[in-house]
Amino acid sequence: MPVSAASKFHAVLNKAKADGITLNKDTVAFTLGYLEGMATDSKSQVPQRTCGNSSLTVSTVSFGCWQLGSKGSEDYWQLEYTQDMANKMVGLAASKGVTYFDTAADYAAGASETQLGVALKTLKAPLQSRLVIGSKIVPNNCGNVTKHCQDTLDRLQIPSLDLYMVHWPIDENGMAHFVSHKKTLAGGRDYAALGAVKKEDVPSTAGAFRELAQLQKDGKVKHIGVSNFGVQQLKEALATGVTLAVNQICYNLIFRAAEMEVIPFCLKHGIGIIGYSPLMQGLLTGRWTEPDSVPIYRARSRHFCGKRPKSRHGEAGHESILFDTLKRIKAVSVESGISMIDIALAWPLHNPAVASVVVGMTKESHVSSNISASKTVLPLAVLAALDKATLELKTAMGPNMDLWQGGSDSRCK
Ligand SMILES: NC(=O)c1ccc[n+]([C@@H]2O[C@H](COP(=O)([O-])OP(=O)(O)OC[C@H]3O[C@@H](n4cnc5c(N)ncnc54)[C@H](OP(=O)(O)O)[C@@H]3O)[C@@H](O)[C@H]2O)c1
Repeated sequence: MPVSAASKFHAVLNKAKADGITLNKDTVAFTLGYLEGMATDSKSQVPQRTCGNSSLTVSTVSFGCWQLGSKGSEDYWQLEYTQDMANKMVGLAASKGVTYFDTAADYAAGASETQLGVALKTLKAPLQSRLVIGSKIVPNNCGNVTKHCQDTLDRLQIPSLDLYMVHWPIDENGMAHFVSHKKTLAGGRDYAALGAVKKEDVPSTAGAFRELAQLQKDGKVKHIGVSNFGVQQLKEALATGVTLAVNQICYNLIFRAAEMEVIPFCLKHGIGIIGYSPLMQGLLTGRWTEPDSVPIYRARSRHFCGKRPKSRHGEAGHESILFDTLKRIKAVSVESGISMIDIALAWPLHNPAVASVVVGMTKESHVSSNISASKTVLPLAVLAALDKATLELKTAMGPNMDLWQGGSDSRCK
């Protein structure tokens, strides 16, 4: 640890001790990471951070586009996200200083990229030029990365991507979910179903990263990233000689699996973390207080019983620990006077590995409240209380970083 960081570290520990607060060293690292992140650009409306050792800079709160292109009540998000809405939301977020916009070819079967592309065209050129656009390729398409990258660029109507990520690891497990032909009434994939993938149909990881590196040389992709990669898979990717700017993973107060192996590895290797689902798809707003009231698609994670309709993990789940944990977080919120949303969005940003939290926003009011939440500095006593409040669930959920598949079916190795 450099001298300045070490002395700051001890100063925080000593101050906490003097205040009678018991801290573990991770909590101290959290606060230091956040304060340093805040210091990088205190004047901008939304602080900006670089991802790991790369030169990719993103806003600390970013705009998640999974919801764009949603077709109505039968779809995952059970809402219709119209083009008009996308134009308004993207324009509002960009004008308020959000720079990173996160989409994927898979979201709404390409309709998310298409809506984002149209919305970007409605922005004035100087504003558009400040934005950072990231998309993802499903592992199933990694046998021809060049073609699928071009399809994405065409849908987005842009000449190059700032960040192009492999959405899930390239193996049978990572691919099975994307070959399911069972559809919902709205035409989207039925999330409960898995298809079968033959070993010989799995694209080579080395070949995919070679193509990505070539796209980078050709200027079509500025930074290469991955998403949902575990340590073994990160090692395989790095062994191809590629530089990874980002590993985009689920990371929030009620899903802390990444802290056990992946975040330490990413910190060591200079790979930035972009944390998705920071509100755990709404659970961390405190909106639902018992499992049966959670909307069907949001109750399919390993937190919930695997017998729920859209679930495919088959595990018992941790419903009572989950709702006890939410109650404990709520108590910390009441005690500290900091809202649940402010706590949920600010908390991952106190981890020095995290460059941004990517939030799905469906109402205009979400933009301002999420920006303001992400700037919240959580006092050490609150960080310590949150650590305590969520430890039981963290232990119960274990190190599996796959929110939706468990046991040997986990896609994150
Ligand atoms: N790489 C991957 O595999 C992966 C996986 C998941 C997500 N992601 C990315 O991460 C983004 C965010 O994750 P997510 O959408 O799954 O979960 P999330 O951001 O935790 O939750 C999004 C939901 O939270 C609610 N919300 C947002 N802001 C709010 C506010 N200020 N007040 C009250 N409610 C609020 C909205 O629900 P209502 O509409 O019900 O109000 C919204 O749909 C996605 O859009 C996507 O870009 C990536």
